[in-house]
Amino acid sequence: MATDNTSLSLEKIVPQADDFLPLLGTDYVELYVGNAKQAAHYYQAAWGFQPLAYRGLETGSKKTVSYVLQQDKIRLVLTSPLEQDGPINAHINRHGDGVKTVALLVDDATRSWEETTRRGAQSFLAPETMEDADGKVVISGIHTYGETIHMFVERSAYKGVFMPGFREWKTSYAPPSAGLKYIDHMVGNVGWNEMNKWCEFYAKVMGFAQLISFDDKDISTEYTALMSKVMSNGNGRIKFPINEPAEGRKKSQIEEYIDFYNGAGVQHIALATDNIIETVTTLCNNGVEFLYVPVSYYDTILERVGKIDEDLAPLKELGILIDRDEEGYLLQIFTKPVLDRPTMFFEIIQRKGAQSFGKGNFKALFEAIEREQENRGTL
Ligand code: FE2
Repeated sequence: MATDNTSLSLEKIVPQADDFLPLLGTDYVELYVGNAKQAAHYYQAAWGFQPLAYRGLETGSKKTVSYVLQQDKIRLVLTSPLEQDGPINAHINRHGDGVKTVALLVDDATRSWEETTRRGAQSFLAPETMEDADGKVVISGIHTYGETIHMFVERSAYKGVFMPGFREWKTSYAPPSAGLKYIDHMVGNVGWNEMNKWCEFYAKVMGFAQLISFDDKDISTEYTALMSKVMSNGNGRIKFPINEPAEGRKKSQIEEYIDFYNGAGVQHIALATDNIIETVTTLCNNGVEFLYVPVSYYDTILERVGKIDEDLAPLKELGILIDRDEEGYLLQIFTKPVLDRPTMFFEIIQRKGAQSFGKGNFKALFEAIEREQENRGTL
């Protein structure tokens, strides 16, 4: 069922964005984790990421160690502390493993920092130039929700593997790619009544425009309720939905996240593929766990979404969800949380024209999440 909100297409809406901050894409996502070496192995073995770069004791980094992995345009940085009582330790103690940095690729990291801080962003890092034999990278950073930050990365004058300070990470262990292509969107969970504040932040500080909003009437089951707005930059490459909890009969999944993460943070990262059946088959075989909707979801699905190119049988077998908007349809599936705390998870998405986010699936999906919450005793 489409509403006026979901019918608003990217082309019609995004020109409202004030593109003083041209973002070329997501440069990398950095997670602070307890054990980067083992996390890196997980993202290789389960997710098909390829080894790219390393920084640690061997490169002269005495306090932190980082592994950089890549799959097509998606770059993950996994960082752990090597010391006691540093800021990364505090982050992990408070939040568990989680996303610290959403880094955005820009032409001019100095100007990006000046423009955003002038508009009210709190600085995390004033522009800094790092150089080595392969050239230079300029980085700067600002704070966003919770303890999450955005870094601006200017790397047009750099030809090394990742950044100065890193060396190529070579390993004989290289499982095949899972066919993941790029980050489609990254969702932030914020606290009660904070959604509008953070949407305004993205509008005012970063020049984003609102694509879509959902309220608790759209997104509620018997227990769970949340509100969500999708903010996008001018060229549509960066899409940040922001969720806040809404009152329900029992604890919503957003509240559960906020409780275990101890504040706002990145809830899920949606990774795009152009063959979701192959990708999800690979991920399942590698041990990635997905949420399943009841098989009855598929009984009437084609009446709701109309004709699709794929056979229904493998979609049903894998638990892949389907939704349609005015511009086409999309296929999507969500993992269970990938950490011990029920916090961050991934979405796998294949867009076949649709620019929306699978609103038609929310109810089935949230009921699946509630079953998981019930198992955890956190509903
Ligand atoms: Fe999503």
